[in-house]
Amino acid sequence: MNQQHFVEYLGIKALRASHPGVRRLKRQQNGHSAHGNKVWRSSFVLMDYLHSYPPEPSSKVLDIGCGWGLTGLFLAQQYQAEVTGIDIDHSVAPFLALQAELNQCVMNFQARGFETLTRTELSDYQLLIGTDICFWDEMTQPLFNLLDLALNAGVKRLIIADPGRPPFWALVDLCVEAFAAEVVTRRIYQPWKTEKYLMVIEA
Ligand SMILES: C[S@@+](CC[C@H](N)C(=O)[O-])C[C@H]1O[C@@H](n2cnc3c(N)ncnc32)[C@H](O)[C@@H]1O
Repeated sequence: MNQQHFVEYLGIKALRASHPGVRRLKRQQNGHSAHGNKVWRSSFVLMDYLHSYPPEPSSKVLDIGCGWGLTGLFLAQQYQAEVTGIDIDHSVAPFLALQAELNQCVMNFQARGFETLTRTELSDYQLLIGTDICFWDEMTQPLFNLLDLALNAGVKRLIIADPGRPPFWALVDLCVEAFAAEVVTRRIYQPWKTEKYLMVIEA
């Protein structure tokens, strides 16, 4: 495979728009509903953070708004995590499958909104992650509700990564008050120079 068609970082390959499989899928689809049309850069920063603070091997991980699933695939490949990605946009599924195939690893996928997760379902996971998932004002309160439910269900660590949009900071304000959340600023230099914010909540 031509290396221009993917970016490799921490042992995982991220699809580029030029990949023939991506181009074929985009031709077949009529566009996406909620921005699941590429791997977003917050994923790379979260991978870098998780490389420093990894989950226990074989942890169960939930990736909300997973898109093409890069961070989940990284955790599955590097830490034998059992990852479930959920996304409201079912059209991300074939891109996730293509990226899983490229990396020869697997994660589960469910097409659904994070608002539908129940306490019983959440109690199955040790780690909840989300990258670039708090991008509209209307998302702040449902995300806060989800994080609250997840902590009540016994999830040990919750991490939301973001470029720093206002709805994310509104979520941070709520979570600092309610759960003593912390915000980490993290910069990576490869595969691009970029800086993002990670809200980390430890139970
Ligand atoms: C900006 S993209 C980020 C995708 C991926 N996390 C990444 O970093 O590459 C936001 C994703 O959230 C999904 N999404 C939006 N609202 C959602 C919801 N209520 N429940 C689950 N997924 C949602 C979108 O379909 C999209 O794939």
